[in-house]
Amino acid sequence: MKLIKAVRGTKDIFGDDGIKYDYVTRAAQEFFSNYGYTMIKTPIFEETDLFKRGVGEGTDIVEKEMYTFKDRGERSITLRPEGTAAVVRCYLENKIYAKEETSRFFYAGSMFRYERPQAGRQREFNQIGVEVLGESSPILDAEVIAMGFSFLDKIGITDLEVTINSVGEKETRVRYRESLLSFLEPIKEELCEDCKMRMEKNPLRVLDCKVEKCKTLTADAPIITDSLSQEEKEHYETVKKYLTIFQVKYKEDPRLVRGLDYYSSTVYEIVTNKLGSQGTVLGGGRYDNLLKQLGDKEIPAFGFAAGVERIMMLLGDEFPKRDLDIYVAWLGDETKEFAFKLANDLRLDGKTVAIDYNTKAMKAHMKKADKVGAKNVVIIGDEEMNKGVVMLKDFINRTQEEIKVEDLKKILK
Ligand code: HAM
Repeated sequence: MKLIKAVRGTKDIFGDDGIKYDYVTRAAQEFFSNYGYTMIKTPIFEETDLFKRGVGEGTDIVEKEMYTFKDRGERSITLRPEGTAAVVRCYLENKIYAKEETSRFFYAGSMFRYERPQAGRQREFNQIGVEVLGESSPILDAEVIAMGFSFLDKIGITDLEVTINSVGEKETRVRYRESLLSFLEPIKEELCEDCKMRMEKNPLRVLDCKVEKCKTLTADAPIITDSLSQEEKEHYETVKKYLTIFQVKYKEDPRLVRGLDYYSSTVYEIVTNKLGSQGTVLGGGRYDNLLKQLGDKEIPAFGFAAGVERIMMLLGDEFPKRDLDIYVAWLGDETKEFAFKLANDLRLDGKTVAIDYNTKAMKAHMKKADKVGAKNVVIIGDEEMNKGVVMLKDFINRTQEEIKVEDLKKILK
Protein backbone atom coordinates (compact mmCIF):
# COMPACT_ATOMS: atom_id res chain seq x y z
CA MET A 1 0.00 0.00 0.00
CA LYS A 2 1.33 3.45 -0.90
CA LEU A 3 2.00 5.54 2.18
CA ILE A 4 0.40 8.98 2.03
CA LYS A 5 2.87 11.77 2.74
CA ALA A 6 2.47 15.38 3.88
CA VAL A 7 1.68 17.71 0.97
CA ARG A 8 4.66 19.50 -0.65
CA GLY A 9 5.49 22.70 1.22
CA THR A 10 3.91 21.54 4.49
CA LYS A 11 5.70 20.17 7.52
CA ASP A 12 4.75 18.18 10.60
CA ILE A 13 5.98 19.63 13.89
CA PHE A 14 6.63 17.03 16.59
CA GLY A 15 9.20 15.83 19.14
CA ASP A 16 11.83 18.45 19.97
CA ASP A 17 10.39 20.71 17.27
CA GLY A 18 7.00 20.48 18.98
CA ILE A 19 8.60 21.57 22.25
CA LYS A 20 10.43 24.36 20.42
CA TYR A 21 7.26 25.57 18.67
CA ASP A 22 5.43 25.58 21.97
CA TYR A 23 8.29 27.46 23.63
CA VAL A 24 8.41 30.18 20.95
CA THR A 25 4.67 30.82 20.83
CA ARG A 26 4.23 30.73 24.60
CA ALA A 27 7.25 32.98 25.20
CA ALA A 28 5.87 35.46 22.65
CA GLN A 29 2.43 35.49 24.21
CA GLU A 30 3.88 36.00 27.68
CA PHE A 31 6.32 38.70 26.54
CA PHE A 32 3.73 40.66 24.55
CA SER A 33 1.18 40.43 27.34
CA ASN A 34 3.45 42.72 29.40
CA TYR A 35 2.70 45.37 26.79
CA GLY A 36 -1.06 44.81 27.01
CA TYR A 37 -1.65 42.44 24.09
CA THR A 38 -4.42 39.85 24.31
CA MET A 39 -5.04 36.80 22.16
CA ILE A 40 -7.12 37.04 19.01
CA LYS A 41 -8.11 34.03 16.93
CA THR A 42 -9.69 34.58 13.56
CA PRO A 43 -10.81 31.84 11.15
CA ILE A 44 -8.24 30.09 8.97
CA PHE A 45 -10.32 30.86 5.90
CA GLU A 46 -12.09 34.03 4.84
CA GLU A 47 -14.00 35.39 1.87
CA THR A 48 -11.50 35.81 -0.95
CA ASP A 49 -12.41 39.49 -1.38
CA LEU A 50 -10.99 40.30 2.05
CA PHE A 51 -7.47 39.59 0.82
CA LYS A 52 -8.01 41.04 -2.64
CA ARG A 53 -9.11 44.31 -1.09
CA GLY A 54 -6.84 44.12 1.94
CA VAL A 55 -3.50 42.79 0.74
CA GLY A 56 -3.93 44.26 -2.76
CA GLU A 57 -4.66 42.88 -6.25
CA GLY A 58 -1.23 43.74 -7.61
CA THR A 59 0.74 41.83 -4.96
CA ASP A 60 2.45 38.47 -5.50
CA ILE A 61 0.36 37.05 -2.67
CA VAL A 62 -3.00 37.82 -4.27
CA GLU A 63 -1.87 37.32 -7.83
CA LYS A 64 -0.24 33.93 -7.57
CA GLU A 65 0.06 32.58 -4.05
CA MET A 66 -3.41 32.24 -2.59
CA TYR A 67 -5.16 28.94 -1.87
CA THR A 68 -8.56 29.87 -3.24
CA PHE A 69 -11.44 27.49 -3.81
CA LYS A 70 -15.20 27.35 -4.07
CA ASP A 71 -16.91 25.76 -1.07
CA ARG A 72 -19.98 23.57 -1.38
CA GLY A 73 -22.17 26.67 -1.28
CA GLU A 74 -20.31 28.17 -4.29
CA ARG A 75 -18.64 30.87 -2.17
CA SER A 76 -15.09 31.88 -3.04
CA ILE A 77 -12.99 31.05 0.00
CA THR A 78 -9.28 31.65 0.63
CA LEU A 79 -7.00 30.11 3.23
CA ARG A 80 -5.49 33.12 4.99
CA PRO A 81 -2.10 34.08 3.49
CA GLU A 82 -1.47 36.48 6.40
CA GLY A 83 -3.16 37.68 9.58
CA THR A 84 -3.60 41.46 9.36
CA ALA A 85 -6.60 41.66 7.02
CA ALA A 86 -8.56 39.18 9.13
CA VAL A 87 -7.82 41.03 12.38
CA VAL A 88 -9.05 44.25 10.77
CA ARG A 89 -12.17 42.48 9.48
CA CYS A 90 -12.91 41.17 12.98
CA TYR A 91 -12.27 44.61 14.52
CA LEU A 92 -14.65 46.33 12.11
CA GLU A 93 -17.31 43.63 12.16
CA ASN A 94 -17.46 43.60 15.96
CA LYS A 95 -17.22 47.40 16.21
CA ILE A 96 -14.38 47.04 18.69
CA TYR A 97 -13.46 50.69 17.99
CA ALA A 98 -16.66 51.75 19.80
CA LYS A 99 -15.62 49.83 22.91
CA GLU A 100 -12.01 50.88 23.43
CA GLU A 101 -9.70 53.62 22.25
CA THR A 102 -6.74 51.40 21.45
CA SER A 103 -6.80 47.65 20.86
CA ARG A 104 -3.75 45.41 21.08
CA PHE A 105 -3.97 41.91 19.66
CA PHE A 106 -1.59 38.96 19.56
CA TYR A 107 -2.01 35.93 17.29
CA ALA A 108 -0.24 32.73 16.43
CA GLY A 109 -1.20 30.31 13.71
CA SER A 110 -0.71 28.92 10.26
CA MET A 111 -0.79 30.94 7.04
CA PHE A 112 -0.89 29.60 3.49
CA ARG A 113 0.98 30.80 0.42
CA TYR A 114 1.60 28.85 -2.77
CA GLU A 115 5.29 29.70 -2.99
CA ARG A 116 8.22 27.62 -4.22
CA PRO A 117 9.25 25.63 -1.13
CA GLN A 118 12.83 25.86 0.11
CA ALA A 119 14.63 26.05 3.46
CA GLY A 120 12.71 28.62 5.53
CA ARG A 121 9.92 28.92 2.98
CA GLN A 122 6.85 26.72 3.11
CA ARG A 123 3.35 26.69 1.70
CA GLU A 124 1.85 26.29 5.13
CA PHE A 125 3.88 28.18 7.71
CA ASN A 126 3.28 29.66 11.13
CA GLN A 127 3.34 33.26 12.20
CA ILE A 128 3.25 35.03 15.52
CA GLY A 129 2.02 38.57 15.12
CA VAL A 130 0.62 41.64 16.79
CA GLU A 131 -1.74 44.35 15.60
CA VAL A 132 -2.48 47.65 17.35
CA LEU A 133 -5.55 49.57 16.20
CA GLY A 134 -6.56 53.10 17.17
CA GLU A 135 -3.22 54.82 17.78
CA SER A 136 -1.35 57.11 15.40
CA SER A 137 1.59 58.16 17.58
CA PRO A 138 5.02 57.48 16.06
CA ILE A 139 6.07 56.40 19.56
CA LEU A 140 3.85 53.36 19.07
CA ASP A 141 5.74 52.48 15.87
CA ALA A 142 9.03 52.55 17.76
CA GLU A 143 7.59 50.70 20.75
CA VAL A 144 6.26 47.84 18.60
CA ILE A 145 9.51 47.59 16.63
CA ALA A 146 11.47 47.51 19.89
CA MET A 147 9.10 44.94 21.41
CA GLY A 148 9.57 42.48 18.51
CA PHE A 149 13.32 42.99 18.55
CA SER A 150 13.57 42.57 22.35
CA PHE A 151 11.50 39.41 22.20
CA LEU A 152 13.81 37.81 19.65
CA ASP A 153 16.81 38.95 21.68
CA LYS A 154 15.31 37.57 24.88
CA ILE A 155 14.77 34.08 23.51
CA GLY A 156 18.38 34.05 22.35
CA ILE A 157 18.34 35.16 18.71
CA THR A 158 21.17 37.58 18.14
CA ASP A 159 22.92 39.07 15.10
CA LEU A 160 19.73 40.61 13.85
CA GLU A 161 19.46 43.80 11.88
CA VAL A 162 16.50 46.16 12.01
CA THR A 163 15.92 47.98 8.71
CA ILE A 164 13.38 50.76 8.51
CA ASN A 165 11.90 53.08 5.95
CA SER A 166 8.94 55.36 5.46
CA VAL A 167 6.80 54.90 2.36
CA GLY A 168 4.59 57.90 3.16
CA GLU A 169 0.89 58.30 2.54
CA LYS A 170 -0.87 57.55 -0.73
CA GLU A 171 -0.31 61.03 -2.21
CA THR A 172 3.39 60.78 -1.49
CA ARG A 173 3.59 57.40 -3.17
CA VAL A 174 1.73 58.71 -6.24
CA ARG A 175 4.21 61.59 -6.47
CA TYR A 176 7.17 59.30 -5.94
CA ARG A 177 5.83 56.76 -8.43
CA GLU A 178 5.93 59.43 -11.13
CA SER A 179 9.51 60.46 -10.42
CA LEU A 180 10.58 56.82 -10.22
CA LEU A 181 8.86 56.01 -13.53
CA SER A 182 10.64 58.94 -15.24
CA PHE A 183 13.89 57.42 -14.01
CA LEU A 184 12.97 53.88 -15.10
CA GLU A 185 11.48 54.60 -18.55
CA PRO A 186 14.83 55.18 -20.33
CA ILE A 187 16.32 51.95 -18.91
CA LYS A 188 13.18 49.83 -19.20
CA GLU A 189 14.49 47.58 -21.99
CA GLU A 190 17.56 46.65 -19.95
CA LEU A 191 15.57 45.56 -16.89
CA CYS A 192 14.52 41.95 -16.29
CA GLU A 193 11.12 40.73 -17.50
CA ASP A 194 9.70 40.76 -13.95
CA CYS A 195 10.75 44.38 -13.49
CA LYS A 196 9.11 45.38 -16.76
CA MET A 197 5.88 43.91 -15.36
CA ARG A 198 6.45 45.60 -12.01
CA MET A 199 6.79 48.94 -13.79
CA GLU A 200 3.22 48.52 -15.01
CA LYS A 201 1.72 47.38 -11.74
CA ASN A 202 3.85 48.54 -8.83
CA PRO A 203 7.05 50.31 -9.85
CA LEU A 204 8.20 50.58 -6.21
CA ARG A 205 8.82 46.86 -6.27
CA VAL A 206 11.45 47.28 -9.00
CA LEU A 207 13.73 48.51 -6.22
CA ASP A 208 13.22 45.20 -4.47
CA CYS A 209 14.51 43.14 -7.43
CA LYS A 210 17.24 40.64 -6.56
CA VAL A 211 18.73 40.50 -10.11
CA GLU A 212 22.23 42.03 -10.04
CA LYS A 213 21.81 43.92 -13.32
CA CYS A 214 18.59 45.53 -12.13
CA LYS A 215 20.23 46.47 -8.84
CA THR A 216 23.10 48.20 -10.67
CA LEU A 217 20.80 49.95 -13.13
CA THR A 218 18.61 51.34 -10.37
CA ALA A 219 21.43 52.24 -7.96
CA ASP A 220 20.84 55.96 -8.51
CA ALA A 221 17.05 55.86 -8.61
CA PRO A 222 15.27 58.59 -6.63
CA ILE A 223 14.43 57.54 -3.07
CA ILE A 224 11.03 57.77 -1.48
CA THR A 225 12.18 59.51 1.69
CA ASP A 226 13.01 62.56 -0.46
CA SER A 227 9.34 62.75 -1.45
CA LEU A 228 7.91 62.69 2.07
CA SER A 229 5.78 65.61 3.23
CA GLN A 230 6.86 67.66 6.24
CA GLU A 231 4.42 65.81 8.50
CA GLU A 232 5.59 62.41 7.26
CA LYS A 233 9.19 63.41 7.79
CA GLU A 234 8.44 64.44 11.37
CA HIS A 235 6.68 61.14 12.02
CA TYR A 236 9.66 59.22 10.67
CA GLU A 237 12.14 61.31 12.69
CA THR A 238 10.20 60.63 15.91
CA VAL A 239 10.15 56.88 15.19
CA LYS A 240 13.94 56.96 14.84
CA LYS A 241 14.35 59.09 17.96
CA TYR A 242 12.35 56.64 20.06
CA LEU A 243 14.13 53.63 18.62
CA THR A 244 17.30 55.19 20.00
CA ILE A 245 15.58 55.81 23.34
CA PHE A 246 14.53 52.12 23.38
CA GLN A 247 18.13 51.21 22.51
CA VAL A 248 17.33 49.53 19.22
CA LYS A 249 20.03 49.87 16.58
CA TYR A 250 18.54 50.26 13.14
CA LYS A 251 19.60 50.80 9.57
CA GLU A 252 17.66 53.00 7.20
CA ASP A 253 16.91 51.41 3.87
CA PRO A 254 15.10 53.81 1.53
CA ARG A 255 14.52 50.88 -0.84
CA LEU A 256 12.58 48.81 1.64
CA VAL A 257 9.11 48.30 0.21
CA ARG A 258 7.12 45.47 1.66
CA GLY A 259 5.23 42.91 -0.39
CA LEU A 260 1.77 43.92 0.82
CA ASP A 261 -0.12 46.97 -0.44
CA TYR A 262 -1.67 48.20 2.80
CA TYR A 263 1.36 49.98 4.25
CA SER A 264 1.74 53.70 4.69
CA SER A 265 4.42 55.65 6.55
CA THR A 266 6.71 53.39 8.68
CA VAL A 267 7.73 49.98 7.30
CA TYR A 268 10.42 47.72 8.69
CA GLU A 269 11.96 44.28 8.74
CA ILE A 270 14.18 42.36 11.10
CA VAL A 271 16.66 40.28 9.13
CA THR A 272 19.40 37.75 9.77
CA ASN A 273 22.24 36.66 7.52
CA LYS A 274 22.06 33.12 8.89
CA LEU A 275 19.16 31.85 6.79
CA GLY A 276 20.38 32.49 3.26
CA SER A 277 17.85 34.08 0.96
CA GLN A 278 14.97 33.65 3.45
CA GLY A 279 16.56 35.99 5.98
CA THR A 280 13.53 38.08 6.95
CA VAL A 281 12.48 36.89 10.37
CA LEU A 282 9.91 39.59 11.08
CA GLY A 283 8.19 42.29 9.05
CA GLY A 284 5.57 44.91 9.55
CA GLY A 285 4.62 48.55 9.61
CA ARG A 286 1.88 51.13 9.73
CA TYR A 287 -1.32 50.57 7.76
CA ASP A 288 -3.48 53.62 8.43
CA ASN A 289 -5.48 53.22 5.20
CA LEU A 290 -6.51 49.60 5.54
CA LEU A 291 -9.45 50.32 7.83
CA LYS A 292 -10.73 52.89 5.35
CA GLN A 293 -10.35 50.41 2.54
CA LEU A 294 -12.15 47.61 4.35
CA GLY A 295 -14.68 49.51 6.44
CA ASP A 296 -14.62 53.21 5.63
CA LYS A 297 -13.14 54.08 9.01
CA GLU A 298 -10.32 56.53 9.66
CA ILE A 299 -8.52 54.42 12.24
CA PRO A 300 -4.73 54.20 12.34
CA ALA A 301 -2.99 50.86 12.88
CA PHE A 302 0.42 49.27 13.23
CA GLY A 303 1.68 45.68 13.50
CA PHE A 304 4.13 42.95 12.57
CA ALA A 305 4.35 39.23 12.00
CA ALA A 306 7.30 36.88 12.40
CA GLY A 307 7.82 33.45 10.88
CA VAL A 308 7.85 30.80 13.61
CA GLU A 309 9.73 28.23 11.48
CA ARG A 310 12.46 30.80 10.79
CA ILE A 311 12.74 31.62 14.49
CA MET A 312 12.94 27.88 15.22
CA MET A 313 15.75 27.43 12.70
CA LEU A 314 17.69 30.28 14.31
CA LEU A 315 17.19 28.85 17.79
CA GLY A 316 18.85 25.56 16.87
CA ASP A 317 19.31 23.61 20.09
CA GLU A 318 19.10 26.71 22.26
CA PHE A 319 15.71 26.28 23.86
CA PRO A 320 14.59 24.87 27.20
CA LYS A 321 13.82 21.18 26.78
CA ARG A 322 11.03 19.64 28.73
CA ASP A 323 12.13 18.63 32.23
CA LEU A 324 10.68 15.45 33.61
CA ASP A 325 10.47 15.85 37.38
CA ILE A 326 9.67 12.29 38.42
CA TYR A 327 9.55 8.77 37.10
CA VAL A 328 7.42 6.52 39.28
CA ALA A 329 8.73 2.94 39.43
CA TRP A 330 6.46 0.27 40.90
CA LEU A 331 7.83 -3.16 41.71
CA GLY A 332 4.93 -5.60 41.77
CA ASP A 333 1.21 -5.91 41.13
CA GLU A 334 0.38 -5.09 44.76
CA THR A 335 1.92 -1.65 44.40
CA LYS A 336 0.38 -0.79 41.01
CA GLU A 337 -2.77 1.01 42.19
CA PHE A 338 -0.86 2.88 44.87
CA ALA A 339 1.76 3.96 42.31
CA PHE A 340 -0.74 5.19 39.74
CA LYS A 341 -2.65 7.13 42.40
CA LEU A 342 0.60 8.73 43.58
CA ALA A 343 1.61 9.63 39.99
CA ASN A 344 -1.81 11.20 39.47
CA ASP A 345 -1.58 13.21 42.71
CA LEU A 346 1.86 14.51 41.79
CA ARG A 347 0.64 15.58 38.33
CA LEU A 348 -2.31 17.40 39.89
CA ASP A 349 0.27 19.09 42.09
CA GLY A 350 1.98 20.47 38.97
CA LYS A 351 4.82 17.97 38.55
CA THR A 352 5.73 16.36 35.24
CA VAL A 353 5.50 12.66 35.91
CA ALA A 354 6.08 9.52 33.86
CA ILE A 355 4.94 6.04 34.86
CA ASP A 356 4.99 2.83 32.86
CA TYR A 357 1.98 0.56 32.57
CA ASN A 358 3.67 -2.83 32.38
CA THR A 359 7.21 -2.67 33.68
CA LYS A 360 7.67 -4.30 37.10
CA ALA A 361 11.40 -4.93 37.37
CA MET A 362 13.81 -2.44 38.90
CA LYS A 363 16.43 -2.67 36.17
CA ALA A 364 13.92 -2.11 33.36
CA HIS A 365 12.43 0.84 35.26
CA MET A 366 15.83 2.50 35.67
CA LYS A 367 16.53 2.14 31.95
CA LYS A 368 13.23 3.78 31.12
CA ALA A 369 13.70 6.56 33.67
CA ASP A 370 17.08 7.30 32.15
CA LYS A 371 15.70 7.30 28.62
CA VAL A 372 12.96 9.81 29.41
CA GLY A 373 15.44 12.06 31.25
CA ALA A 374 13.82 11.95 34.69
CA LYS A 375 15.39 14.10 37.41
CA ASN A 376 14.03 11.89 40.21
CA VAL A 377 12.75 8.36 40.51
CA VAL A 378 10.21 7.42 43.13
CA ILE A 379 10.53 3.68 43.85
CA ILE A 380 7.57 1.87 45.39
CA GLY A 381 8.05 -1.66 46.66
CA ASP A 382 5.70 -3.79 48.76
CA GLU A 383 7.53 -3.17 51.98
CA GLU A 384 7.81 0.57 51.50
CA MET A 385 4.17 0.89 50.58
CA ASN A 386 3.05 -0.89 53.75
CA LYS A 387 5.22 1.43 55.82
CA GLY A 388 3.81 4.52 54.02
CA VAL A 389 7.20 5.43 52.60
CA VAL A 390 8.86 5.51 49.17
CA MET A 391 12.45 5.49 48.03
CA LEU A 392 13.35 8.80 46.36
CA LYS A 393 16.30 8.53 44.02
CA ASP A 394 17.91 11.75 42.83
CA PHE A 395 18.89 10.81 39.30
CA ILE A 396 21.20 13.76 38.80
CA ASN A 397 23.28 13.45 42.00
CA ARG A 398 22.81 9.68 42.20
CA THR A 399 21.72 9.76 45.87
CA GLN A 400 18.72 8.07 47.42
CA GLU A 401 16.72 8.27 50.62
CA GLU A 402 13.62 6.79 52.16
CA ILE A 403 10.90 9.35 52.79
CA LYS A 404 7.31 9.45 53.96
CA VAL A 405 4.72 9.76 51.20
CA GLU A 406 3.27 12.89 52.81
CA ASP A 407 6.74 14.51 52.79
CA LEU A 408 7.34 13.72 49.11
CA LYS A 409 5.54 16.76 47.71
CA LYS A 410 7.34 19.10 50.11
CA ILE A 411 10.75 17.71 49.23
CA LEU A 412 10.11 17.84 45.50
CA LYS A 413 9.14 21.52 45.76
P1 HAM B 1 5.08 39.18 5.69
O1 HAM B 1 6.36 39.90 5.54
O2 HAM B 1 4.40 38.72 4.47
O3 HAM B 1 4.13 40.12 6.53
O4 HAM B 1 5.30 37.92 6.63
C1 HAM B 1 5.88 38.05 7.91
C2 HAM B 1 6.89 36.95 8.18
O5 HAM B 1 6.31 35.65 7.94
C3 HAM B 1 8.10 36.97 7.26
O6 HAM B 1 9.05 37.89 7.71
C4 HAM B 1 8.61 35.54 7.39
O7 HAM B 1 9.38 35.37 8.56
C5 HAM B 1 7.31 34.75 7.53
N1 HAM B 1 6.94 34.14 6.23
C6 HAM B 1 6.33 34.73 5.18
N2 HAM B 1 6.15 33.85 4.18
C7 HAM B 1 6.66 32.67 4.60
C8 HAM B 1 6.78 31.36 4.02
N3 HAM B 1 6.30 31.08 2.81
N4 HAM B 1 7.38 30.39 4.75
C9 HAM B 1 7.86 30.64 5.99
N5 HAM B 1 7.78 31.85 6.59
C10 HAM B 1 7.19 32.85 5.90
C11 HAM B 1 2.85 39.84 6.88
O8 HAM B 1 2.36 38.73 6.78
C12 HAM B 1 2.10 41.00 7.49
N6 HAM B 1 0.74 40.55 7.82
C13 HAM B 1 2.83 41.51 8.71
C14 HAM B 1 2.13 42.65 9.39
C15 HAM B 1 1.34 42.57 10.48
N7 HAM B 1 2.11 43.91 8.98
C16 HAM B 1 1.37 44.63 9.81
N8 HAM B 1 0.87 43.83 10.70
